[in-house]
Amino acid sequence: MTTFWSSYISVLTLGSLIGLTWLLLSTRKGQSKDTTDHTMGHSFDGIEEYDNPLPKWWFWLFVATLVFAVGYLVLYPGLGNWKGLLPGYQDPTEFANGEAGWTGAHEWEKEMAKADARFGPIFAKFAAMPIEDVANDPQALQMGARLFASNCSVCHGSDAKGAYGFPNLTDQDWRWGGAPETIKASILNGRHGVMPAWAEVIGEQGVADVSAYVLSNLEGRSLPENARADVAKGQEIFAANCVACHGPEGKGTPLMGAPDLTHPQAFIYGSSFAQLQQTIRYGRQGQMPAQVDMQGNDKVHLLAAYVYSLSREEVAEAD
Ligand code: HEC
Ligand code: HEC
Repeated sequence: MTTFWSSYISVLTLGSLIGLTWLLLSTRKGQSKDTTDHTMGHSFDGIEEYDNPLPKWWFWLFVATLVFAVGYLVLYPGLGNWKGLLPGYQDPTEFANGEAGWTGAHEWEKEMAKADARFGPIFAKFAAMPIEDVANDPQALQMGARLFASNCSVCHGSDAKGAYGFPNLTDQDWRWGGAPETIKASILNGRHGVMPAWAEVIGEQGVADVSAYVLSNLEGRSLPENARADVAKGQEIFAANCVACHGPEGKGTPLMGAPDLTHPQAFIYGSSFAQLQQTIRYGRQGQMPAQVDMQGNDKVHLLAAYVYSLSREEVAEAD
């Protein structure tokens, strides 16, 4: 923090404390110590205000909060660059920012170090096992489920079934592949799906035609009646422009993260005629953030086993 902001905060904080103390004491001046039946002379809906001193317990509670505030600001880092009197650590260089003194970040680091010491060996034990085996271990799955809930559910949903723009991880429709090691690679290094924008290449009519063709490949779907699009032309456009990534039959290419376009459940951006045109006109850029720096290999190993187990459940149910 610069000296300016440090003093700005200090002056503001101390100023408020002094101001509040002054307010508290000045309103006591000149008041009688005892309860009276004088009123302030106004009434509202029959409610009148008496001219009485503040209750003693309230006054002392207020004083206590002021004392607490001063004590806190002396002990903890709260006033700009003041680090507080509380001791930090024996060896401050152990910690990322190398600062002495108490900080919330240090407390967090301490907690993390404790957790690593306790769970590290368990993570390491599972990390040495093949993902398929970890996926059969109840303790591992429980740990994986917790990691998933705190790191992945914001995007993929707490049931891992995905949402608009975020793939379902419990089914057999994989964009990048559902083999255990492939799932792990998706999580560890992240993924970036690049679907080019086509409006300038094939024109607005081309977008409609090829969307109609994609729709015609989806079971149970039909083109809206008023749609002006030519499925046969769309097929030609598809063969010329799309098969390189989505494959000759539109079944996708996991190496590129190009999804299967023949299966409605595989679409994360919607498979209505309007949504298809939107996707094809402007392109899409789905990003799965890499977890290697945040979670490290061992936790990702557990996460991969957990995700793999979810997708297996469906296979087991189908059998
Ligand atoms: C360079 C490779 C590439 C080409 C060429 C390509 N696509 Fe894609 N397409 C992708 C990728 C990768 C994705 C996934 C994007 C994402 O996950 O955000 C995708 C996604 C899509 C989707 C969205 C699927 C969903 O999940 O909702 C549609 C629809 C689609 N492509 C249609 C087409 C059509 C039609 C063409 C030809 C005009 C085409 N693509 C050409 C790579 C390609
Ligand atoms: C910021 C949102 C976000 C978070 C957080 C996130 N993901 Fe993803 N994830 C995505 C998106 C978007 C994709 C699809 C990428 C693409 O378009 O190809 C994806 C793809 C994946 C895939 C590949 C799916 C496939 O079909 O091949 C896996 C596996 C995955 N995520 C697992 C996880 C796990 C495990 C976590 C938690 C550690 C996680 N994700 C956290 C957004 C997220």
